[in-house]
Amino acid sequence: MSSYRSLILGCGPRARAHAEVYPELERMELVAACDLDEERLEEFTTTYGIEGAYTDYETALREMEPDIVHVVTQPARRVWEAECAASAGVQAAIIEKPIAVLPSEMVGLALVRDESGMKMIVNCQRRYFPQFRDGHIRRVMLEEIGEVYLIRAGAKGNLMSMGPHMMDLLLQLLGDVAPESVWAMAYGIDETGYKAYHRAPEHTFAEYWFPGGIRVLFDCDTEALGTPDEENFWMHLHFDILGTKGRVYVTQNAGWWYQAEGMAEPVHGESSWDTQQRDGQRDFQQAVADWLDGGEPHLNRFDVAKNGFDSLTGALQSAYEGRRVDLPHSLTDAQWHELRERLISGDAG
Ligand SMILES: NC(=O)c1ccc[n+]([C@@H]2O[C@H](COP(=O)([O-])OP(=O)(O)OC[C@H]3O[C@@H](n4cnc5c(N)ncnc54)[C@H](O)[C@@H]3O)[C@@H](O)[C@H]2O)c1
Repeated sequence: MSSYRSLILGCGPRARAHAEVYPELERMELVAACDLDEERLEEFTTTYGIEGAYTDYETALREMEPDIVHVVTQPARRVWEAECAASAGVQAAIIEKPIAVLPSEMVGLALVRDESGMKMIVNCQRRYFPQFRDGHIRRVMLEEIGEVYLIRAGAKGNLMSMGPHMMDLLLQLLGDVAPESVWAMAYGIDETGYKAYHRAPEHTFAEYWFPGGIRVLFDCDTEALGTPDEENFWMHLHFDILGTKGRVYVTQNAGWWYQAEGMAEPVHGESSWDTQQRDGQRDFQQAVADWLDGGEPHLNRFDVAKNGFDSLTGALQSAYEGRRVDLPHSLTDAQWHELRERLISGDAG
């Protein structure tokens, strides 16, 4: 079995979650890190005992010849970051969410993937939390609560910050099918801080129609209905799944429950960011080497992530056009920019 050499691009707070699980990974070795900020780079490489320290990405790729690259930057230059990796012969790029912001970026990434064959995996690591990875919740949806007809999904983050995670889990729960149509409305935009890169309406409410007539109410809004007792905006992610014979309620941080006809009490399962994030990230990363070694395709492979991005972009197209639209979306960058201008000027999408 090969041992894969990895490079982390971007040494910000999120990169720590990627680096700290390396000692537990098999056949994967973190050999280099790269950041424009020398102080950050120095602190990061010292903390994790990383041999190669670079401020220039292309030099790092050339000199270290990594097999795997982690792209842990803000979503500003994803296509260039992927192109550089592919040109340097990298076998797999783990890209932090959001994989793209503009419609054309997804087109560019698909081209890189098709032309180079480089595997691209998007870091929506919750797929590797056991209740999702091992299909516990999906099994209940398929076997215990009758026909699923409505899902309410909620997150208190915008469409590019928490939207990718919420859409990713929703798609996994529904068996990675694509939605057929969407009707959405949106208003407001906040481009301060990290949202200068995670550009999306501050408030989006979308209704999706999935195969089988399943309706999804997708509330991705800083004012979305949250879960009790949570303070951090990203802890509020939850799903309320209604079937003809029962119901499943999934929170990110306080467990999940289901109750079906004839059950006196709900059944409770574990779901906790605090206890599951680290192992989830580790298993997510290990699955990359396993896939390169000919094992199971990664749960967050490019096609899956593209379905998630395209579904979110469909909501933007609907907000732009002010009507229900069939999917796949056809939103252009020019329309995206026009929608943004409208959001800035205070017109609702
Ligand atoms: N999956 C998750 O649960 C999760 C959680 C938090 C954040 N994120 C995502 O992780 C990403 C990074 O977040 P962060 O908070 O660590 O960002 P950050 O801005 O704090 O860090 C990014 C780092 O990348 C460096 N960088 C950017 N371009 C570079 C280049 N060309 N060459 C070298 N270095 C470069 C910057 O100098 C910076 O230090 C974001 O996309 C965010 O959405 C994901």
